[in-house]
Amino acid sequence: MIRLERVEKYYGSHRVLRGIDLRIERGEFLAIMGSSGSGKSTLLNLIGGMDRPEKGNVFVDGDNIAAYSDDQLTLYRRKRVGFIFQFFNLLPNITVFENIALPLLLRDSTDTSRVKMFIERMGLRGKDDAYPYQLSGGEQQRVAIARAFVHDPDIILADEPTGSLDSETGMMIMDTIRQVVRETKKTVILVTHEPYIAEYAERIARIKDGVILP
Ligand SMILES: Nc1ncnc2c1ncn2[C@@H]1O[C@H](COP(=O)(O)OP(=O)(O)OP(=O)(O)O)[C@@H](O)[C@H]1O
Ligand SMILES: [Mg+2]
Repeated sequence: MIRLERVEKYYGSHRVLRGIDLRIERGEFLAIMGSSGSGKSTLLNLIGGMDRPEKGNVFVDGDNIAAYSDDQLTLYRRKRVGFIFQFFNLLPNITVFENIALPLLLRDSTDTSRVKMFIERMGLRGKDDAYPYQLSGGEQQRVAIARAFVHDPDIILADEPTGSLDSETGMMIMDTIRQVVRETKKTVILVTHEPYIAEYAERIARIKDGVILP
């Protein structure tokens, strides 16, 4: 479903990705590991259409998104991808309900029944009108998970989703992600540097010196 071919990414003259070749099947749960600065987030951003490579192809269902225009890339991102981040990235001045509804608004959808459904599913009942600062870290990440799934994207990208949580909460969050992913049959790419978090994936790819290790 996702296929990267000889992908190179530069920041100035610094070549961060030096020819990434990687295939991810539909419905697969892949973990990407590698040391700090090895290019994990850069790689995730290319798959998520937040950025384009200088060289190489990023095929999603046969379409090369590396060749998309800005508008095409924005549409791709909004429709096909759900993001989960280390620091949750919730908007501080709007409620839990409004944060989860954001991807629907961006798609001009007014059907908020899925927001309610995910609030229940994530164990956030009664928190609809709370603001992010009124929630624990684990609760904030559950809001972010709901936001990542609410518009029913087929690709979920999680960049160190447990990185700012204690290990117990982190494992609860991973259990939740794994369950929802199984129920909804998403393709997941998880970035982590914690081996016990990578264990949640079906396959682990390691990145070093700008390439995926064989
Ligand atoms: N926007 C940017 N401008 C310039 N350099 C960048 C930019 N983003 C990342 N880099 C550089 O690219 C390299 C890879 O960064 P990246 O964030 O992908 O690493 P990472 O593997 O996610 O690291 P970490 O585990 O610390 O999150 C680093 O050397 C970083 O300094
Ligand atoms: Mg990173």
